[in-house]
Amino acid sequence: MTDFIILAAGNGRRMNSCATNSSKLFKKIAGLSIVSHVINNCRNVNSGNVIIVTQEQYKEREEFRLADKIAIQKAPLGTADAVKAALPFVESESAIIICGDSPLIQADDLRLLADTETSNVSIVVMQIPNDMLDSQYGRVFVDSSEDVRIVEYNDLSDEQKRYNIVNSGIYKFKTLALLENIEKIKLNADKNEYYLTDIFQFIKSGVNIITAKNYKSFLGINTPRDFVIAEDIMQNRLRDKFINNGVTMLDPPSVYLSYDTVAEPLSTIEQNVIIKGGVKIKAGAVIRSFSYLENCVIGKNAKIGPSAVIRDSVVEEHAEIGNFVEVKRSTIGNSTKSKHLAYIGDTDVGENSNIGAGTITCNYDGRKKHKTKIGSKTMVGANSSLIAPVEIGSEAVIAAGSVITKDVPDKTLAFGRARQENKTRKEIA
Ligand code: UD1
Ligand code: CA
Repeated sequence: MTDFIILAAGNGRRMNSCATNSSKLFKKIAGLSIVSHVINNCRNVNSGNVIIVTQEQYKEREEFRLADKIAIQKAPLGTADAVKAALPFVESESAIIICGDSPLIQADDLRLLADTETSNVSIVVMQIPNDMLDSQYGRVFVDSSEDVRIVEYNDLSDEQKRYNIVNSGIYKFKTLALLENIEKIKLNADKNEYYLTDIFQFIKSGVNIITAKNYKSFLGINTPRDFVIAEDIMQNRLRDKFINNGVTMLDPPSVYLSYDTVAEPLSTIEQNVIIKGGVKIKAGAVIRSFSYLENCVIGKNAKIGPSAVIRDSVVEEHAEIGNFVEVKRSTIGNSTKSKHLAYIGDTDVGENSNIGAGTITCNYDGRKKHKTKIGSKTMVGANSSLIAPVEIGSEAVIAAGSVITKDVPDKTLAFGRARQENKTRKEIA
């Protein structure tokens, strides 16, 4: 068994794009906060306690509910000081330490590290490409007597900066080795921080170096630029997962996915589609270009878009939601169609109904939202306004251009518009 210590109490000073009362770790990548990616991956290893180190002001954050223990670091005095705050919660004989700003590490990477025989410490290093030599990783040097030394970026000479073996910030320590050595680390006066990486001055044996196969999984998010790179890597991973699983994507780079998107094999996602959190796309469904989906289920063989917006809704099998149709907090029954220019909000529609172009469910009276119900095999004529709350039965017909304020029973034709009158020129005069 190994515990996990996630370091998440830093100030993120290099990330200029954070409000002072927030942390870079709560910024979202593929719809999930950076630190939640790390917590989820640790949880998925199914080993010991997941301990999060944070600042007092963030201890109630929702993101941390999935951790087993919350340790508070009183002041951001560096990574070694953060580890000290976590040590009272460590119960296993070893602990994996991981930076909370490394959302791309996957559970498989962590499982591998958890299973690595470690006598005192295993440290994960990575080889970065030349165009990343100015990213601020600590460099890992091993001298002829196999002593490991980590030099932080700010302390590197120009020559050392060209060295491309860097510290990923992930280690597996024997708990005993941590307890025996962490107090020996001295304050770095320039930075007013205790560097965890200085612990290698005191642990002289049993240090095992593991070289990561893919450096991209170990990127730390320090700057706004890193944030963009991480999002890009995460999106590519998600796209590849779906493509390999049998989802047809016509132009993968133009599709934005969420960490929790589900798209079944045999579904199709066309170009320029945005998929936010909580979306499930069933087999055979087609999401056409420029559509925006959020928190919704798209049933088997349903057709969405182009340019449809669907939120907090269920669209059942074979239904069709066409261009410039917005569906919000609604259920669209099997084979029901609304193919052009409509707003369907707070509405339940039965099966095989047709909602004509320009139909608006008027669900908001200025203070409250109200529900609309439409039965099965009902035809709502074009340009109708359905003033909610209102119930329209099955096999009903609403005449085009109606303003419907009263319920419409089953098998009924409802007119809610002024009758047309044709007048001659004489009659007008
Ligand atoms: C750290 C390593 C560096 C490594 C890099 C990998 C140290 C001193 N340096 O540098 O060798 O190459 O990670 O990404 O460890 N944190 C706290 N409390 C603090 C300071 C930081 O909890 O007082 C947390 C941060 O929230 C962050 C993590 O520790 O999640 C790492 O801190 P950061 O300042 O980003 O360290 P790096 O400079 O990236
Ligand atoms: Ca970092």
